[in-house]
Amino acid sequence: MAILITGGAGYIGSHTAIELLNNNREIIIVDNFSNSKKEVLEKIKQITNKNFKYYEIDYKDEDKLNKIFKENKIDAVMNFAGFKAVGESVQKPLEYYENNISGAITLLKVMKKHNVKKFIFSSSATVYGNPEKVPITEDSKTGGTTNPYGTTKLFIEQILKDLYKSDNSWDIAILRYFNPVGSHESGLIGEEPNGIPNNLMPYIVRVAKGQLKELSIFGNDYDTKDGTGVRDYIHVVDLARGHIKALEKLEKENQGLYIYNLGTGKGYSVLDMVKAFEKATGQKVQYKITERRAGDIAICYSDPTKAKQELNWTATKTLEDMCRDSWKYIQNSK
Ligand code: UD1
Repeated sequence: MAILITGGAGYIGSHTAIELLNNNREIIIVDNFSNSKKEVLEKIKQITNKNFKYYEIDYKDEDKLNKIFKENKIDAVMNFAGFKAVGESVQKPLEYYENNISGAITLLKVMKKHNVKKFIFSSSATVYGNPEKVPITEDSKTGGTTNPYGTTKLFIEQILKDLYKSDNSWDIAILRYFNPVGSHESGLIGEEPNGIPNNLMPYIVRVAKGQLKELSIFGNDYDTKDGTGVRDYIHVVDLARGHIKALEKLEKENQGLYIYNLGTGKGYSVLDMVKAFEKATGQKVQYKITERRAGDIAICYSDPTKAKQELNWTATKTLEDMCRDSWKYIQNSK
């Protein structure tokens, strides 16, 4: 029985594919390579020394998806095929709602038709909006998203809750990621944002490499220890392993809807990140302080207790690992 991974050539999908293969699972990747490269599939094979099937299709294509479910014995689905650039989502809301929400609905409809009812969804800490308190537990209030990307995550969570209510033979895990960074230790795969990156770590590595002049730190007047924004950065390999644990949970429980934070529970400021990166890599990161970025919040970090208790999962990689591995990948890439 195989695990279908939509968006399996993307940043988090590819790292999860590796962990699944290392776990001796059969996988099938579906990707249209709209925001990823085909060569990532070869890298996954190279890293794991294992083979797998893949289909180059758009996951919104119901007929083609149906065919894949007919041709294969699929036991569970992990959905990584979402668009994820916050700024772009403000410019292109229809494309974001269509790809993320219609895509998820199509996938769920096809799964239902073929009686495949184990589903793991990539959600985000963005669903908490501006949190009332930190660390954030899973029962904290959700809503108040500030951009269409975040709203797609919120809506899909609601769709999954309604689906489960209508038919509790589904097995659903909603995983709320905090801030994924780093890359596989081989340095062969990693994060490859289109154009100038918006997120902190991809920006830092490009400044260190000399591709970008300097980092703009968006505000140093937040109510935090040094005035810069605080986030819960999590190594993408830890995050990927969280998916394996969630899958095992669904297999064990057989029926239920579960929500987990995947974070480290530690908050680091932007300046902490710059210093940690410089220390881990020996590279200098030029920066200047600028205005706050619209929509940013001061502090966001997880309470990861629930995932620890129920999934037996905790993040094990350090900030140094995150910085070193992010740097390793960018050095290898063009
Ligand atoms: C952002 C998204 C979130 C998404 C996540 C994916 C917003 C409001 N939120 O989170 O929905 O799930 O990315 O990883 O965009 N920073 C700088 N200079 C930079 C870039 C970032 O100072 O050039 C700061 C930010 O102000 C923030 C921290 O670094 O304090 C992290 O920013 P970023 O990596 O963009 O992630 P989030 O904003 O937390």
